[in-house]
Amino acid sequence: MNYNKKTVKDVDVSGKKVLLRCDFNVPMAKDGSGTITDDKRIRAALPTIQYLLDQNAAVIACSHLGKPKGEVKPELSLKPVAKRLSELLGKDVIMADDVVGPDAQAKAAALQPGQILLLENTRFEKGETKNDPALAKAMADMAEIYVSDAFGAVHRAHASTAGVADYLPAVSGFLIQKELEIIGGALANPKRPLVAILGGSKVSSKIGVINNLLEIADTIIIGGGMAYTFSAAQGGKVGDSLLEADWQEYANDMVKKAAEKGVKLLLPVDTVVATAFAPDAENKVVKNGEIPDGWQGLDIGPETIKLYCDAVKDAGTVIWNGPMGVFEFPAFAKGTEAVAEALSQTSAITIIGGGDSAAAVQQLGYADKMTHISTGGG
Ligand code: 3PG
Repeated sequence: MNYNKKTVKDVDVSGKKVLLRCDFNVPMAKDGSGTITDDKRIRAALPTIQYLLDQNAAVIACSHLGKPKGEVKPELSLKPVAKRLSELLGKDVIMADDVVGPDAQAKAAALQPGQILLLENTRFEKGETKNDPALAKAMADMAEIYVSDAFGAVHRAHASTAGVADYLPAVSGFLIQKELEIIGGALANPKRPLVAILGGSKVSSKIGVINNLLEIADTIIIGGGMAYTFSAAQGGKVGDSLLEADWQEYANDMVKKAAEKGVKLLLPVDTVVATAFAPDAENKVVKNGEIPDGWQGLDIGPETIKLYCDAVKDAGTVIWNGPMGVFEFPAFAKGTEAVAEALSQTSAITIIGGGDSAAAVQQLGYADKMTHISTGGG
């Protein structure tokens, strides 16, 4: 794929103040201790940061973390990220107490070439998610060049991801370049058959992905909670399983479109059901569409596992986004584990997107068997 965006290498950053949008939206331990449970996104930002520092730029990094909705929430401070980034870079990361407030302004003004400053969580500002021009301008005013490297967040038209580019010369960083080259390359001219595995809880959050994949995939495999919406749409009984009733029509349309386009669409044939959403809930395997009342589907069943793993064996390219079941509960992790294992064994190009699938692959020790684990989500 031809990468047709300007990058940091196309501009002279030496001695300049550079506003760098990263995606430091990292998973944190739920105990509020500020422990980062996976620093992949911080590591992925290092090549661009290191390059800018080596070029003697003064780097003003920024990112969102979680969804604080315009309020300052101490548990969503980027301070733990500054600490981890500092460890990884082996140098001081100056932390600002705000995004465009007096502390950020003063620290940005005093920042010297070769130094790095991290602004506070951009979503502490109400204007961030509204792409408020005043906020975008205030951020831009601290710098001379804007570098966009937040691959996982560039699909959001927010002040720090989009608005700032109205006020500063804008280029991309190396992470965006790498992700677009690998994913774009694999999808522009895929080694076939191209198999897409989609899981996770909601059909509604995957619409864009599904529509795109219908145009290019040879096989689409559906697992996870979203499969129950398909099952219900086809008249199946889903008991107390996750169901997006409003999306049943879309699910049926998708089945129809896939048939028209000659795309093989695989849906579960059996499912592991449980009496409650709990790790130790009583469970059993039932046929798809035959989930009794009082039971809910929490994983794909053994027949489905076989069907899905077989489809992966002869693939040329596999893209996987979203777990097959509630994989954080060991009793309902078998589907996700089996898919991860099948991907580790296939000779296909394997691309993993989405926090949960990436985490599953990493936890199971298959990370280095995959062609690419994206920092992006769905
Ligand atoms: C992600 O984690 O997928 C990105 O950082 C985007 O986060 P968001 O869905 O909160 O915008």
